[in-house]
Amino acid sequence: MSRVKVLDKEFELSIPETDILKAVDEVAERINSDLDGKNPLMVCVLNGSFMFASDLMKRITIPCEISFVKLSSYQGTGSTGKVKELIGLNENIEGRTIVLLEDIVDTGLTICSTIDQVKALGPADVRVATMLFKPDACKKEVTLDYVGLNIPNDFIVGYGLDYDGYGRNLKNIYTVVE
Ligand code: IMP
Repeated sequence: MSRVKVLDKEFELSIPETDILKAVDEVAERINSDLDGKNPLMVCVLNGSFMFASDLMKRITIPCEISFVKLSSYQGTGSTGKVKELIGLNENIEGRTIVLLEDIVDTGLTICSTIDQVKALGPADVRVATMLFKPDACKKEVTLDYVGLNIPNDFIVGYGLDYDGYGRNLKNIYTVVE
């Protein structure tokens, strides 16, 4: 399928599943080597990262745990602009090595707010693994420890990412056709 329609928009194939999985392999390899002996807690930020988290976890060979969190739809206004509250992290993470699993870092606002909220809970180390990164869209200074693929600043769907709730089930990544 080189073109798909999601709701009212046309999308064309931009990253096939084979390339996605190769990138996931590389991220997993680095985590396996960097965090051996650290007993990391992977924190999957729903909804978009469920597919990345699933493929990545199958490739992690060191002892680790996974937990699933969400950002509330409520948006309060903090010093950094709009912030969403992280919900669902019920474990005591004091002293733990945390790896945040994200689908995509676009402006960087979401990941920065997530990192701050997790750091406030007293972990030893917070790392970020994101499947996708749009360097040209990013407005924040943020360290992304593990990046699957850098992509252009275009709207995409598939591999967990949605357009208005649809398209998350696509195994390839597709870019909107303007
Ligand atoms: P940020 O706060 O601008 O970095 O945006 C992060 C969130 O926006 C991601 O977790 C996605 O849910 C969503 N997002 C950003 N870019 C795209 C895209 O191209 N397609 C679908 N969702 C996107």
